[in-house]
Amino acid sequence: MLKITTIIGARPQIIKAAAISRAIRNRFSDRIRELIVHTGQHYDNSMSQVFIDELGIPQPDYNLNIGSASHGKQTAGMITGIEEILEKEKPDYLLVYGDTNSTLAAAIAASKIHIPVAHVEAGLRSFNKSMPEEINRIVCDHVSTLLFSPTPTGYNNLLEEGFSANNKAPFTPDHPGIFHCGDVMYDNSLFFKEIAAEKSQVLTENNLHDKNFILATIHRNNNTDQPERLSAIFRALNSIAANYRIPILLPLHPRTSKLLDKNLEKEILDKIRTNPFIQITPPVSFLDMIQLENHCQMVITDSGGVQKEAYFFKKPCIILRPETEWKEIVDAGTGIIADANESIILESCQQLTEKSSMLNYPPIFGDGAAAEFICGVMLENG
Ligand code: UD1
Ligand code: UDP
Repeated sequence: MLKITTIIGARPQIIKAAAISRAIRNRFSDRIRELIVHTGQHYDNSMSQVFIDELGIPQPDYNLNIGSASHGKQTAGMITGIEEILEKEKPDYLLVYGDTNSTLAAAIAASKIHIPVAHVEAGLRSFNKSMPEEINRIVCDHVSTLLFSPTPTGYNNLLEEGFSANNKAPFTPDHPGIFHCGDVMYDNSLFFKEIAAEKSQVLTENNLHDKNFILATIHRNNNTDQPERLSAIFRALNSIAANYRIPILLPLHPRTSKLLDKNLEKEILDKIRTNPFIQITPPVSFLDMIQLENHCQMVITDSGGVQKEAYFFKKPCIILRPETEWKEIVDAGTGIIADANESIILESCQQLTEKSSMLNYPPIFGDGAAAEFICGVMLENG
C-alpha cells in the first residue's frame, strides 16, 4: 500500500485535492492510502470547511491551525508542524498543489528529511518574482521528485529550467520525473458541473439570468494592497455595470473585503455601494462558483483558478494581472491581460463582448482524468 500525505491549506488547494481524493476512493483505494494535513492557512468556513463538506474530501487527519501571519511567520509555523507529522507518519510521497505558502512549507519540510515530493501544477511561471507565488513554485519544483504539469507551457518551462524529459525511474530530487498530465481542476469542473446545476440555487438567490451577468473576483495582493490599483479596477467595474446595465457579481475574498474601506478611494467606494448593478457577496461554495461560471456572460478576475475555469466553461475572461501563467488562454484569444488599467479593462470588455460568439476554446487542459494519471505515476514509482 502506497502511503501519501496530502497538504492542503488555501481554498484552491482544497478544491484541487478533491480530484485526487476522488480518484483514490474510486480507483485506487486498495493500493493508495491518503493522509490529509490542513495547514489552516485558510480557516473561515467559506474559505475551507465548505469545500471539504461539499466536495467529498475526507476530514483532514491533522489541522495545524496556522492562520494568517506574515510570510515568514506563517511559512515557518507550517514547516515546523509538517515536519513533525512527516517524521511520525513517514509517507512514501508528500503531495502538494499549486504555489501557496502551504505548498512551499511542505516542500521544504519534506525534502529536507528525504520524503519525495510530488508537485501538482508544476512548471507554471509568471516570470515575475515580486509575486510570492512565483518564489513558492520555483522552490517547490526544484526540490520535487515527481512534477506534474497541467499544460504544455508549464512542461516547457521545466525543460527551460534544466529538467530533463529523458530521465527514467527511479526518480529522485536530483533525477526528477516530469509529466504533462492535464489539469485536476478540469477534472473537477467536468465532475461537478451537473451536480452544481442540480444543487446550486445561486442564480435565483442573486436574481441572475443565464448569460446576463458578469462574474468577478479580486484577491491578488498587488491589487488589494495598492490603493491606486484597487481603485482603478473598481472604477472599471463600476463603468462596465453602468454602461452595459449588466449585473456584476463579486464574491469577495476576505482579504479584499477587509481592505475595501482602507484602500478604495472614497468616491469610488460610494459609487460601488450605490450602483444597483454591483452585487458584492461573501465567497461562495465551489458548486455555486461553477454554476456562476457556467452561466455568466464574462469573467473578470485576478485568480489563477478562475481564469482556467472561465476557459473550461467557454467564457471570455479579462485578466486583472500584468501577466499570466496560463498563457494558452491568452493565445486562444479568449482571455485578455488588462492588468489594473482602467481603460484597458474597459476596452477588453468591449472587444470580448463583440467577438464573444466567434471565440474558440480548444481543449488544452487534458481529458478530465489528470488525477488518475497522477495516482498511476505515484504508484509506479512508489
Ligand atoms: C493565498 C495564496 C494565493 C492564493 C490564495 C487563494 C500565498 C502567499 N498566497 O493568498 O497564492 O491565490 O491564497 O485564495 O500563499 N483571510 C481571512 N480568512 C481566511 C483566510 C484569509 O480573513 O480564511 C484574510 C486574512 O486577513 C489574511 C488575508 O486574508 O491576512 C490573506 O490570507 P493569506 O492566506 O495570507 O493569503 P491569500 O491572499 O489568501
Ligand atoms: N472559488 C470558489 N468560491 C469563490 C471564489 C473562488 O469556490 O467565491 C474557487 C474557484 O472556483 C476556483 C478556486 O476557488 O476553483 C480559485 O481559488 P482562488 O481564486 O482563491 O485562488 P487562485 O486560483 O488564484 O490561487
